[in-house]
Amino acid sequence: MEKMLKNMEEMEKEASVVLQRLIKKHDGKKALIIGLCGDLGAGKTAFVKACASRLGVTEIVTSPTFVIEKIYKLSQKPYLFLIHIDAYRLNSCEEMEHIGWNAIQKDPQNIVFIEWADRVDACMPETTEWITFGHVNESTRTIRHHGNQRKG
Ligand SMILES: Nc1ncnc2c1ncn2[C@@H]1O[C@H](COP(=O)(O)OP(=O)(O)O)[C@@H](O)[C@H]1O
Ligand SMILES: [Mg+2]
Repeated sequence: MEKMLKNMEEMEKEASVVLQRLIKKHDGKKALIIGLCGDLGAGKTAFVKACASRLGVTEIVTSPTFVIEKIYKLSQKPYLFLIHIDAYRLNSCEEMEHIGWNAIQKDPQNIVFIEWADRVDACMPETTEWITFGHVNESTRTIRHHGNQRKG
């Protein structure tokens, strides 16, 4: 189901609801991986910022477009690290391996948010939770959680 988020506050609230749902569903065998899709400005980073805040991150979360990956240490269980990846500049899964993707996705202590995950979907595990954002107008965005289906 697609939801309209009319302003930043609604985005933050929805992020919190979706995050709770994903944590509850997560079987804890490997990392919780959240694949974020949608055009530039659709709200992917805004969503990660809101989730990070809910998970107790006090540092300022900025887009990892140029550094590809940022890691935040969490002080609350069950996760130890929030890993924020931006695949915008990546062209292949081979490049995901440069940041140690295989080890990252295996560790159940990681909660991983990947912007532009559709660019590297060949190396996203089947358990990835897919979320797509859309731009409606200046202050309104849409969000759709597809579960483990990349599109739907
Ligand atoms: N309802 C909304 N939800 C999320 N972002 C919004 C909303 N309305 C306006 N914005 C603005 O849209 C921009 C979204 O940018 P960002 O999250 O960086 O997008 P992306 O990471 O998808 O490129 C931000 O500047 C944010 O302030
Ligand atoms: Mg972004």
